[in-house]
Amino acid sequence: MVALVLALSAIALSGAAATDVNAKATVLSGDVELGEYLSAECVTCHRLSGDYDGIPPIVGWPVEHFFAVMLEYRHKKRPNPVMQTATSNLTDEEIGALAAYFAQIKPQ
Ligand code: HEC
Repeated sequence: MVALVLALSAIALSGAAATDVNAKATVLSGDVELGEYLSAECVTCHRLSGDYDGIPPIVGWPVEHFFAVMLEYRHKKRPNPVMQTATSNLTDEEIGALAAYFAQIKPQ
């Protein structure tokens, strides 16, 4: 299943890589199933309910904002070492998928 999802996203991406605009649109319409798969690590810290328990909630965010914040950690423009590590191995496509997955969860 995961392999299928990865294969499908690879096809989607290779088709849309023609321009930066298309690439960005592809990233921002990320694959929710891939995002759910990748989110397993994130939800060991971040609560899916949207509750704040010392770690900020990340559900229900606009996709573009989520994506921008994740890139800030990956580029070490935001100082938090935990999140710098959590984002260091993620591709733009994977961050787009995470953004799409967390965006469609409603805080309770
Ligand atoms: C080990 C615990 C931990 C893990 C795992 C983790 N995070 Fe975080 N995350 C944090 C903490 C702590 C902060 C607050 C960092 C700060 O103050 O900048 C944070 C901040 C964030 C923020 C910004 C929140 C805000 O309000 O500005 C986002 C978005 C985020 N994490 C997404 C993720 C995603 C997506 C994953 C999985 C790839 C993930 N995190 C994995 C602990 C974690």
